[in-house]
Amino acid sequence: MAYRSALVNVMEAAARKAARGLIRDFGEVEQLQVSRKGPADFVSQADMRAERILREELTRARPDWGFQLEEGGAIAGRDPAYRWIIDPLDGTTNFLHGIPHFAISIGLEHRGEPFAGLILDPVKDELFWAERGQGAYLNNHRMRVSSRAKLADSLFATGIPFHGRGDHARALREISTVMGEVSGIRRMGAAALDLAYVAAGRYEGFWEWDLNPWDVCAGIVMVREAGGLVSEIDGGERALTGGNILAANDKLHTPLRDLLRRAKAEAK
Ligand code: IPD
Ligand code: CA
Ligand code: CA
Repeated sequence: MAYRSALVNVMEAAARKAARGLIRDFGEVEQLQVSRKGPADFVSQADMRAERILREELTRARPDWGFQLEEGGAIAGRDPAYRWIIDPLDGTTNFLHGIPHFAISIGLEHRGEPFAGLILDPVKDELFWAERGQGAYLNNHRMRVSSRAKLADSLFATGIPFHGRGDHARALREISTVMGEVSGIRRMGAAALDLAYVAAGRYEGFWEWDLNPWDVCAGIVMVREAGGLVSEIDGGERALTGGNILAANDKLHTPLRDLLRRAKAEAK
């Protein structure tokens, strides 16, 4: 049984409480698929409800800490050192379409650096968590990034931009460059889980543009504590705030970065 600190217990209790509502709401979404109005409004309410529960529970446990919330924005706390960075529902499009792949992601930053993270996939009942210096865990088992060292044996995840968002030409170039060298690319639709899966050794790596701190804060700690490397796509260090991310096992971080550089060079 892995040792869980008081901090991880607080994060887990908040996530489990919010997850109960999300699971109930996910059950409803299937019914709404066929209605004319569609489930979109309902899902955004589910999202807001989950965020409110997380905020209430975490405030009760750590009254002095502030928040950066996807829906509610920034809320200053009395203690400037710690701040929760939260995505109450990552994988909204999956949720909206009745696809059971979404998560609650609770990150904690300390003096601007990712410090702890907990990602709960309530449908598969998988709880991923990590704390700086304490390791990374899936349920009660220690996580390690995979040891695959050859691109040709490796599975990578990414995000694909969509209607009205992102640089479509760049995404096509990157996918076309990477797919010729690897054993597969996945687009599962929940960035927090993509990072958790790198930490768990399921993917060798993950890259995505146009992300926000709440998509990546928890996952950054997890990948690092599982022995992986996290940076911006060009290798820069601002993975939390830079708006893009490259996370991989220690052997394939540089090869993946080089492939993405090659894709960029091909644009010229
Ligand atoms: C999205 C998911 C998705 C990623 C998007 C994110 P949301 O978050 O993580 O995988 O490709 O860029 O915005 O909207 O479901 O919380
Ligand atoms: Ca998200
Ligand atoms: Ca979200």
